[in-house]
Amino acid sequence: MKKRVFSGIQPSGILHVGNYLGAIRNWVELLDTHDCIFCIVDLHAITVPYEPAEMPGRILDAAAGYIACGVDPARCTIFVQSDVHEHTELAWYFNTVIPVAYLERMTQYKEKSAQFSEHVTMGLLDYPVLQAADILLYKAEIVPVGEDQVQHIELARDVARKFNNRYGGIFPEPAARVGSGARILGLDGQAKMSKTLDNYIAVTETPEEIWRKLSTAVTDPARKRRTDRGNPDVCNIFSLHRLFSSAGEQARVAEGCRTAGIGCLDCKRILADNIARELAPVRERHAALKGKRDFIEGVLREGACRCGEIARGTIREAKAAMGLLR
Ligand code: TYM
Repeated sequence: MKKRVFSGIQPSGILHVGNYLGAIRNWVELLDTHDCIFCIVDLHAITVPYEPAEMPGRILDAAAGYIACGVDPARCTIFVQSDVHEHTELAWYFNTVIPVAYLERMTQYKEKSAQFSEHVTMGLLDYPVLQAADILLYKAEIVPVGEDQVQHIELARDVARKFNNRYGGIFPEPAARVGSGARILGLDGQAKMSKTLDNYIAVTETPEEIWRKLSTAVTDPARKRRTDRGNPDVCNIFSLHRLFSSAGEQARVAEGCRTAGIGCLDCKRILADNIARELAPVRERHAALKGKRDFIEGVLREGACRCGEIARGTIREAKAAMGLLR
């Protein structure tokens, strides 16, 4: 029996290099060795203000993005969260075992409630409980995510433990799987790469766009002139080299930076070429999927069908344990 993997991304527009390195590249590595379920979490995306008319397009684009990045639907299950109603049902059961205080201390809740101070809803507070339901509905044991989601996976463990203590051991405690690209900074070199901060490179960007964005990105702040020696260990561009460049190239770039043998622009040029090379097939597959809406809808329908079946089984078990089955 293959171990089950579950992960998801909010449909908030095009995928960026942070999503790719923090999550999707790790998903692809697990496709052949694990039973992988990947979700487009639209019910999470509606916990902050959004435009309803844009949502169907964002969902389809997220699915196309997954597939373009190599999440091959023939080797895993891809579906939309709201297509399987059991997610919200299980979240409600979990709401009755998890204390409010656990949710109030979540970092993402604090950040988002500051950012959307006019819109601090129950949904925003309850967000991690729905995430716990996503994972536990499928009894997934491994959750490949970026570092920012680790706290939410720990909450899912708390939820599983509390439910099991109260009603009997139904749910395994899932573990986060964090890869080498766990926390990608944006081009400003300061904040996490994100769509909202507009400090990102999208996975479908052209080589020219990648170069344009990288050319103005922040490097080692202490290296002011071409003749200054730099420190790759504090340079955000070098941290991207670690994820996109070969070991030999990393060593050459680091040495050139430390000795002022190469300038920041030279270093960025090499990085831009390597990112463009890795993302070329993603861009091509994404373009090819543009006219294939029926294919994508078919993948999502099939995914929802398989997930619905698993989900109904888990709900039956949970209800029986809770005394809700007659
Ligand atoms: P979301 O949509 O914010 O991000 C999706 C995935 O991308 C990772 N990520 C990053 N990794 C490294 N550096 C970055 N700058 C960066 N930005 C984003 C995130 O860590 C995440 O893995 N709550 C989740 C979605 C979710 C989920 C789930 C995940 C809902 N249910 C169940 C796992 C299991 C979220 O908002 O991710």
